[in-house]
Amino acid sequence: MRKKVVAGNWKCNTSVQEGVELAKAVNELVAKEGAEDVVVVLGTPFTHITSVVDAVDTNRVGVSAQNCAAEASGAYTGEVSAAMVKSTGAEYVILGHSERREYYGETSDILNKKVALTLENGLTPIYCCGEALDIREAGTQKAYVINQLEETIFNLSAEDFKKLIIAYEPIWAIGTGKTATTEQAQEMHKDIRDAIAAKYSQEVADEISILYGGSAKPSNAPELFANPDVDGGLIGGASLKAEDFLGIINAY
Ligand code: 13P
Repeated sequence: MRKKVVAGNWKCNTSVQEGVELAKAVNELVAKEGAEDVVVVLGTPFTHITSVVDAVDTNRVGVSAQNCAAEASGAYTGEVSAAMVKSTGAEYVILGHSERREYYGETSDILNKKVALTLENGLTPIYCCGEALDIREAGTQKAYVINQLEETIFNLSAEDFKKLIIAYEPIWAIGTGKTATTEQAQEMHKDIRDAIAAKYSQEVADEISILYGGSAKPSNAPELFANPDVDGGLIGGASLKAEDFLGIINAY
């Protein structure tokens, strides 16, 4: 059975102190009222990770970086390696977010290296894919997203591929308040799963959690999560409020 996962992506928000308070609040709410069968992850800025790991029960609330370096170590000023992330106690790394692809020039070649280093260090990549509005309007979103997978993660062995979490995030729905309809989400998630089955096997495809991201909130999460191929969410804005995040965790 594949896992249900609700992961927060705090992006470039909160001071360390605010982040620790938020993490503690989520930790407390999840311990008291959180759906037990949902894997909960907090994607914090690098500066917060160690403090957040200390502030939560990591058996219940996992911690994620939002990026890592494309090199293992060395003279790369300002970079944070996958090994460094691992040494904090974090277990996940969000990779290939559309904001990184768009604003920081992350190409498929760079992502290949980051995915490989993340896996080599025993971390779980939360690999993001998704199309921009013009592609959706042209109706070529399926080919676009499958091509993203082909260029960045379909080179992995089946054994490594099974370790991934995939997040489908239509760019036109991120931070816009405009959510994909439940049909649009299900259709793309099924397309992704079918492509995995064709590339690897149905067994591998059935094991991979595919999360939806893009203006998910407590009010629309139940409808999105009711789809057979939607296995949870990657949550931006709504993960910055503990109660809203809990509402999404409990949306199943
Ligand atoms: P929002 O939930 O703010 O739309 O962000 C989604 C996202 O980009 C999560 O990675």
